[in-house]
Amino acid sequence: MKKIFEINHPLIKHKLSIMRDKYTCVSEFRNLCNDISMFLGYEALKEVDVFEENIHTPIKSMKAVKILEESIAFVAVLRAGLGMLDGILKILPSAKVGHIGLYRDEDTLKAVEYFTKFPKNISNMNVILLDPMIATGGSIVDSITILKKHGVKSIKILSLIASPEGLKRINDEFKDIEIYVAAIDEKLNEKGYIVPGLGDAGDRIFGTE
Ligand code: PRP
Ligand code: URA
Repeated sequence: MKKIFEINHPLIKHKLSIMRDKYTCVSEFRNLCNDISMFLGYEALKEVDVFEENIHTPIKSMKAVKILEESIAFVAVLRAGLGMLDGILKILPSAKVGHIGLYRDEDTLKAVEYFTKFPKNISNMNVILLDPMIATGGSIVDSITILKKHGVKSIKILSLIASPEGLKRINDEFKDIEIYVAAIDEKLNEKGYIVPGLGDAGDRIFGTE
């Protein structure tokens, strides 16, 4: 699976370890989720398109490299993807934001769609899809399908923890999509939770446990 990047940086591992701890409080969990999202975003944007613009430093004029921020859309998978937005918007504050509302039916483990809202010209934008957990992979597969129906051609995925099963499913269906994760865990349990994971990301971000 050549397009799956597990970012092995000590800072990311350190912050993720604190998130995994069941005694970590909501506010710290949220802050760490945003921090890690920012670091993953830094990696995912390393080959983003740039252009040159003439600027004047206090010393002389020069051709400066810039990113066309408006060509990038961060799409958060509700609810838990919202917990990644503030962090990633710190590195590209003028990027557009879209939302896909999905929840996982706890009995069937299938993703159920309840809301979508995208920037107007999403089909021409580079989309970075945000969801902290890839368990069965169903939510991401459905999100990609929705984006492709809207004509989106460029999609990357950012996630904190993925299961091997979920990654395989996404990779089997969409070979060309890059996935950036902070950790690939052992497996799924019988309830579809990632092991060891961090529990229910949405509940821990919003304090709804
Ligand atoms: C969680 C998580 C993912 C999904 C992952 O969302 O944020 O979206 O489960 O599971 P999957 O890979 O098996 O689809 P959840 O359905 O709990 O909704 P929430 O974010 O509203 O809590
Ligand atoms: N969703 C979560 O938030 N956590 C899991 O472990 C699996 C799905």
